[in-house]
Amino acid sequence: MESVMVAAGELSYPVLIGNQALELLDKVLADGGTVPEKILLITDDTVHRLYGKQVKERLEKISPVAMFAVQSGEEAKSFEQYYAILTYALEKGLDRKSMIAALGGGVVGDLAGFAAATFMRGIPFIQIPTTLLAHDSAVGGKTAINHPKGKNMIGAFYQPKAVFFDPQFLESLPAEEMRSGMAEVIKHAMIADASFLSWLQKDLSAVVNPNADQLATMIKEGIKIKAGIVSQDEKETGVRAYLNFGHTLGHAIEAALGYGRITHGDAVAAGMLFASWLSEKELNADLSAGELKDWFKEIGFPVAVPEELSSEELMNFMLSDKKTASGKVNMVLLKEIGTPVIHSYLPERLQDLLEEFRKEEIV
Ligand SMILES: NC(=O)c1ccc[n+]([C@@H]2O[C@H](COP(=O)([O-])OP(=O)(O)OC[C@H]3O[C@@H](n4cnc5c(N)ncnc54)[C@H](O)[C@@H]3O)[C@@H](O)[C@H]2O)c1
Repeated sequence: MESVMVAAGELSYPVLIGNQALELLDKVLADGGTVPEKILLITDDTVHRLYGKQVKERLEKISPVAMFAVQSGEEAKSFEQYYAILTYALEKGLDRKSMIAALGGGVVGDLAGFAAATFMRGIPFIQIPTTLLAHDSAVGGKTAINHPKGKNMIGAFYQPKAVFFDPQFLESLPAEEMRSGMAEVIKHAMIADASFLSWLQKDLSAVVNPNADQLATMIKEGIKIKAGIVSQDEKETGVRAYLNFGHTLGHAIEAALGYGRITHGDAVAAGMLFASWLSEKELNADLSAGELKDWFKEIGFPVAVPEELSSEELMNFMLSDKKTASGKVNMVLLKEIGTPVIHSYLPERLQDLLEEFRKEEIV
């Protein structure tokens, strides 16, 4: 069993990684002073079918459990589902002595976390991630729902009491969802740890079809990097912004295509290629962006921005992103692997650069 502590402001909480993580539930909650009288278990219908019963039974050893399953997929991060959860919580008599448990991927974690942050001005919650991507989303306390005008536009910084990551849940994860999570693993390596990136690049099968040991390493290393950054800057006033590497364009692609049309990781992968290309062009960084693109192609990531989206349309979404400041778009670039920097662009300039990048893509 691995344990990583996340310090966020005055709080700190453990992320437990291992096949026995959930066995420690009672102890970890009691140690943290959380003894819920009721639990609302929030999941999605796919995860419900696979693991709902088993996890509900586990939680029932602590206190009575009500369960709410949203429809699987990004569309669940909506006002409607958020409202439905709050209604259900009120109907079931949850109060400030209750706790929310999020069982699922980043969608469930973001949605359930936001419900926990706002229900009766905030009740405790825990994360039980079931996707590789959730090694990222379950840690750090960003919770949100989407708005048709932009991703994660309505949300709160709200830390869980603990995260219980049992990698056995990943055994049922479809290949494209594994790849989606791999994009965030690669992101963590690119912004913080050149030797971790080399390790990932050394063996294609470790990335395309990882065994249990390789997965455990990726989850642990990724969480350590994320926890280290969050501990320095919980509310994203500084270094936490580096975690957005690849996300400015990635979020724009997701929003412009329509939520759920592309996985988060595939969109972020395209965004990381653009940010790497920009880093070479603007900072003279030597990132071997061409080799990176070949590697991404071998992994199965789409390496071009979807043709049906115009650069102007993408630019409009980038401008409405939360990372926009004073009409400029902030992009996370890399001076070298492990050394991120923020570069601000006027929209017209960035749109021209995006256009140039896309022309080079098809040569
Ligand atoms: N809060 C953060 O810091 C943060 C960071 C990164 C991403 N995110 C958010 O995370 C979301 C993406 O998360 P995701 O990729 O986990 O998506 P997801 O939650 O939609 O899960 C992907 C799919 O896999 C299914 N699934 C989940 N676990 C499974 C399992 N064990 N076996 C089989 N199927 C399973 C789900 O039902 C879903 O269809 C996005 O909304 C993104 O914005 C948040």
